[in-house]
Amino acid sequence: MGAMRLCLLLTCLFFWGVSSVKNLKNTDDLKNVKYGRPAPRHGLKLLFWFAQRVMVDQNNICILQPNINLQRGDFGFHLFENREHILPSLRSEISYYIVGNLKYHGANALPNFVQRNYQNANVPERNMDRLIVSMNQNRPNRMNNLFITSHNRGRQDFNLSDTYEIDPELILQIRQLYDCTLDQTNNYINKPQEETEEERCSRFLIQNGYKSDDCTYISRRKKRSSNSQCNAYEGIKLQIKATNQGYLKLIYLNIPSKKYFTYAYINILQKTHSTNKSVWEKIIIPPSGALDTSVTLNAGLQPQLRLYSSFLNYVFQRPEVTWYGPEFDGANRVIPTRIKGFDASLQLYTEDGKACARLYIKKTFSNWKDVLYYSWVAFYKSSQDKNDGYSTYQYAYNFAKIENSITHNYDIYQYNSSLAIAPGVQIRFLLDKKYDKVLAQTTPWEGVEKFTILPSNCEEGNHGAKPSSPWSDPELFYGPEFYDANNVIPVKIEKYNAHLQLFTKDGKACARLYIEKTFRNWKDTFYYSWVGFYTSAQNSNNKYGEFQYAVKFEEIEYGIQNFDIYQYKSKLAIASGVQIRFLMDKSYDKKLAETEPWRSD
Ligand SMILES: *[C@@H]1O[C@H](CO)[C@@H](O)[C@H](O)[C@H]1NC(C)=O
Ligand SMILES: *[C@@H]1O[C@H](CO)[C@@H](O)[C@H](O)[C@H]1NC(C)=O
Ligand SMILES: *[C@@H]1O[C@H](CO)[C@@H](O)[C@H](O)[C@H]1NC(C)=O
Repeated sequence: MGAMRLCLLLTCLFFWGVSSVKNLKNTDDLKNVKYGRPAPRHGLKLLFWFAQRVMVDQNNICILQPNINLQRGDFGFHLFENREHILPSLRSEISYYIVGNLKYHGANALPNFVQRNYQNANVPERNMDRLIVSMNQNRPNRMNNLFITSHNRGRQDFNLSDTYEIDPELILQIRQLYDCTLDQTNNYINKPQEETEEERCSRFLIQNGYKSDDCTYISRRKKRSSNSQCNAYEGIKLQIKATNQGYLKLIYLNIPSKKYFTYAYINILQKTHSTNKSVWEKIIIPPSGALDTSVTLNAGLQPQLRLYSSFLNYVFQRPEVTWYGPEFDGANRVIPTRIKGFDASLQLYTEDGKACARLYIKKTFSNWKDVLYYSWVAFYKSSQDKNDGYSTYQYAYNFAKIENSITHNYDIYQYNSSLAIAPGVQIRFLLDKKYDKVLAQTTPWEGVEKFTILPSNCEEGNHGAKPSSPWSDPELFYGPEFYDANNVIPVKIEKYNAHLQLFTKDGKACARLYIEKTFRNWKDTFYYSWVGFYTSAQNSNNKYGEFQYAVKFEEIEYGIQNFDIYQYKSKLAIASGVQIRFLMDKSYDKKLAETEPWRSD
């Protein structure tokens, strides 16, 4: 009896669980829930993106675009076990797949408009939304059910009151309103001269009450920037492309003009699991341009834009706005291409600026090395090249198996070629030694779309009527952050119109001299003066680790108002206690300035 009651109770619970997932039937329903709003949440963008990749058939079933394979881990899709039972339980051959965790391997193939807020916000809301589908493992492109859900703020578990089933009717409405069509071969195409997917998505967001100009979450030094300025950030595009020799080409578009910012500065970061290392940096000229760099292309490169409202803020590394572009995923966000007739796929990617090939082999295809014994992957400089016009090739069985955290269903094999990655490069999978059986060919490596460089805003700020000395401006001087100088302001060099500051770059102790412009003969006055670097404030003046003459300091390109700036980078590692001193001459007793010992906290 007790067992039966328990059973009944469990059944009730089960049905309670099932029925409590609300169904969203149309766009009105969607407008009436809070899901995915406000920025930086990305759930509505995810839903829009997915809706463009399914069609709804006559039985009201969503059919996924044929080139997308959830089991292969495309876009970061992976099995969802429903341990918390937020969704109905499933029969054994049906599984849930989840997408939307932007930290997940593969998620950086999602379009930039889905990821953008994630890159620029540092709050848990930026990565809390998910989309879940259920499908039969044997019919992997039929989506039985579709759900949107979110994590509880800042937690691992899901929020049942923020979980909804999406009716195929709603998918249809999203697709129709923000149209995208099928061509005869069932490929999804955009209508000619139509808006981009991103533009259609912004219309969808606006109509659903998501303010695309809400950027209260963006890291800004002052929170009082106006909304129009905020819109200006939304339009910023920082793109990583390839030069013809496997190096990084940077494209920047729509950088806010000098009306708001004096200096725009781009840093290319190489991200690894633990660090972000700067590999390239440059002041750029707004609003748009293209720059070839000497950085070899690799996954994990990310452009970072910093906008400074004055040169002093630039010197002190106090950006008004810091804005991140999309992280380069190594494969140009192109998912693998199916190898016809086999449970295998081919992907072109780059490592160290070389064209590389990746094979996904389904684990059930265990005899692939026999079946594809004569198969090879050929590398072409151009998609126009004939099959026998390859630059280099490798047999599939020679590819090296790699550890893979992308998918459980596939093994991954890779090969690095010697061909430099460049726009137009393509790889093909050929079945045998003849040249006519191409089973897969990748999209040619993306080039740089034509873009118009708008005339830059040339009006220079009127520097005539500014306050006399920036040192007397407390707002500038005692600002909240002096990143590279550990928030320590420069110290005056006794009796002279000059200042000394300890700062760090690349882990080394560095010295910066601020020489007032009126101090014209400083090089004569300081001809014998030097800056000593000390590991401790206890060291006597002659116990320096390194020194440099002031006249040997390097002038940095742009002075600030009333001051010229000179810098020197020592070989001494920065560490707690490090101090620099300014000594007038070769004797050790004329110390004119010393900095506070470095604090590393
Ligand atoms: C769960 O979702 C509801 C509806 O969107 C929301 O009001 C609530 O704050 C969420 N709870 C948590 C813990 O995030
Ligand atoms: C690297 O940069 C990202 C922004 O893209 C930031 O969120 C993260 O904290 C940085 N990591 C380290 C180790 O500095
Ligand atoms: C390809 O090159 C990278 C870096 O040069 C190396 O780490 C990797 O092991 C190479 N992969 C193969 C399959 O040879």
